[in-house]
Amino acid sequence: MAKLKVAVLISARGSNMQSLVHACSAPGFPAEIVCVLSNNLEAAGLKFAAENAIPTRVIDHRDFENREAFDAKLTEFLASIDVDLICLAGFMRLLTPEFVNRWQDKILNIHPSLLPAFKGLHVHERAIESGARFTGCTVHFVRPEMDEGPIITQAVVPIHQTDTPEALAARILEQEHLIYPLALKLVAENRVKIHGAVVLIEAADEQHHALLNPKVEGF
Ligand code: GAR
Repeated sequence: MAKLKVAVLISARGSNMQSLVHACSAPGFPAEIVCVLSNNLEAAGLKFAAENAIPTRVIDHRDFENREAFDAKLTEFLASIDVDLICLAGFMRLLTPEFVNRWQDKILNIHPSLLPAFKGLHVHERAIESGARFTGCTVHFVRPEMDEGPIITQAVVPIHQTDTPEALAARILEQEHLIYPLALKLVAENRVKIHGAVVLIEAADEQHHALLNPKVEGF
């Protein structure tokens, strides 16, 4: 079967993009990364992509008059390389409804909280300040409203009493690197079905259940 053609959009470090690249390099993985695109020429992840022989492209939002013009350029480029799926991986730009609707059910995003809690920015600080005992990360389909959309995978991470936002972010990031490749695999295998706000995963096995709800270590 033909592999799903994926573009990964980044703005900076790109560690989630790296986890997707590693996953796609495994024999038989059902998706391939055909481009890493950034709105920021300085994004560190671009170097990694280039070193791994993945085509890169920079489309700088500052070169455009408004969001609509920038997003139209993104669509023009992504359509020209015939992508099947767009993975946002630390892409720190809000997308217009026109863009999201053009790529309906073809955009995934990763967010470092257990959505629908803690949408937006500064999520780790806010999670700690809230007094919550657990937070985590989420991969979901993108909808026009920020950090909204049907959830595919999540991982739970405990908040320690001594946590700093940085320490918590680092533990969540480890889980992000597990759940994004899993979500991509499930989508590429065509096992992810959207029913309104809810995603059903066909033939989810034990391993997937373990990753969707990982055991908390040390308790
Ligand atoms: C990740 O933690 C990702 O979940 C977050 O930015 C970081 C990017 O790291 N994304 C968001 O906050 C989007 N709302 P990375 O560049 O190393 O993948």
